[in-house]
Amino acid sequence: MFEISINGNRRQAQVDGDTPLLWVLRDVLGLTGTKFGCGIAQCGACTVHVDGSPVRSCRLPVSAVGARSITTIEGIGASPIGAKVQKAWLDLEVIQCGYCQSGQIMSAVALLEGNSNPDDEAIDAAMSGNICRCGTYVRIREGIKRAANGG
Ligand code: FES
Ligand code: FES
Repeated sequence: MFEISINGNRRQAQVDGDTPLLWVLRDVLGLTGTKFGCGIAQCGACTVHVDGSPVRSCRLPVSAVGARSITTIEGIGASPIGAKVQKAWLDLEVIQCGYCQSGQIMSAVALLEGNSNPDDEAIDAAMSGNICRCGTYVRIREGIKRAANGG
């Protein structure tokens, strides 16, 4: 039995310790906003925050979470920057098919938490691990800048 903090709540999961956090979120806890893409930490679709840092949940065993706090796309709107990013995404209609976008938003929020006014270089560096098959990269960059400028 593992007890982990997710979006401010204590949640329990009866799983093996090597079960990836992504499986716990989606299959055990029903938090399906975080997506499975590649399963090998190469696409970013499964990105969540662990103590505020973006982490690929497909490669994080639940036993390694410990006392750290997990934030998922379901909880990110509770933070001021998370709310601004989500609003900017909607205002600019960033999303196409949507599959990658939970991960994109989680990486964008982590960037803005550490850099309130990122330039293109900083944005590209922070977002390089998040793949979008629909090619929404230009709108993602605009969304980050809009959120940085107040949403
Ligand atoms: S599903 Fe985790 S990085 Fe692709
Ligand atoms: S919006 Fe379709 S993969 Fe990114």
